[in-house]
Amino acid sequence: MTPARVDVAVVGSVNIDLVATVARLPLPGETVPALGFEQFFGGKGSNQAVAAARLGRRVAFVGLTGEDAEGGAVRAALGAEGVDVSHLGTTAEAGTGRAIVLVADDAENSIVVVGGANAVLGEEHLTGAAEVLEQAAVVVAQLEVPVETVLAAARLAGGTVVLNPAPARALPRELLEAVDVLVVNEVEYEVVLGRPLPTDLADVPADVAASGLRGTVVVTLGGRGAVLCDGGEVVAEAPPVVPVVDTTGAGDTFIGALADALSRREPPRDALRWAVHAASLSVGALGATTGMPSSEQVAESIRTSGPTSAPVPPVPTPAVDGPAPIQEV
Ligand code: RIB
Repeated sequence: MTPARVDVAVVGSVNIDLVATVARLPLPGETVPALGFEQFFGGKGSNQAVAAARLGRRVAFVGLTGEDAEGGAVRAALGAEGVDVSHLGTTAEAGTGRAIVLVADDAENSIVVVGGANAVLGEEHLTGAAEVLEQAAVVVAQLEVPVETVLAAARLAGGTVVLNPAPARALPRELLEAVDVLVVNEVEYEVVLGRPLPTDLADVPADVAASGLRGTVVVTLGGRGAVLCDGGEVVAEAPPVVPVVDTTGAGDTFIGALADALSRREPPRDALRWAVHAASLSVGALGATTGMPSSEQVAESIRTSGPTSAPVPPVPTPAVDGPAPIQEV
């Protein structure tokens, strides 16, 4: 039997997120008490897969867990979201990935990732998924798995390749050349493109041309929205004003929603707006995937917000994990 076609294939990490809420993030050397503690399913790859699936896409996830109870739990959770987990393997070499997440009262967070099985994902684990990667309309990857594996996945991809180079690192030229859509925050922009995000966004296309990238670059600007550089054109999208509890996973929601829209062949400008609204809606609840919206919720947010495409001045601020709303609770 021919397997059902997928819209979006995600190659990446899956974690158990150990989330402590705190009044404020600790300073170096400081101990602070937790106000609460919860566990969630996370990992940038898994989060991005869930975001696209919540929006109605057929999604396949390619990754690795340990041979442990946590691995079984994340497999079941992804399956319950409708994500095809037939290419989620297991390894005896390491346990399922974990992330230690602190979320402060002002919604700022800090995350330490323990790679575990994600770091073991190799080119050999892609063999069984080659057909899925070849036929998916969009293939999404991040860097919580080895960069060599990401390059191999990009080479197997038959559709649009979306790369989120997080955690940030310099990329081999072959990978830059294999990417169609690069999604970066301000920190990742500087690491990957080798220069700070220009104050004048009109200068972004020159940076992109000099970097060896052949495709589109999307820069997420936290509470200021996101910017799309497509050829010589630069488009900015401001976020709606919504309550913010936890921005963990907002960037992943942005990428899952962007992949969703691109797989439906939405024009880049519309895909940008869709992703900004989806990410903004995602931050209203604790946990990376808890607040991820349905397509109806995103459509309603866009409908009630009116036009939000506008020049967004990139005043330098600390980068956060994707577009976050302006109003805090
Ligand atoms: O992007 C958020 C994610 O980063 C968390 O879910 C955590 O697991 C880390 O991978």
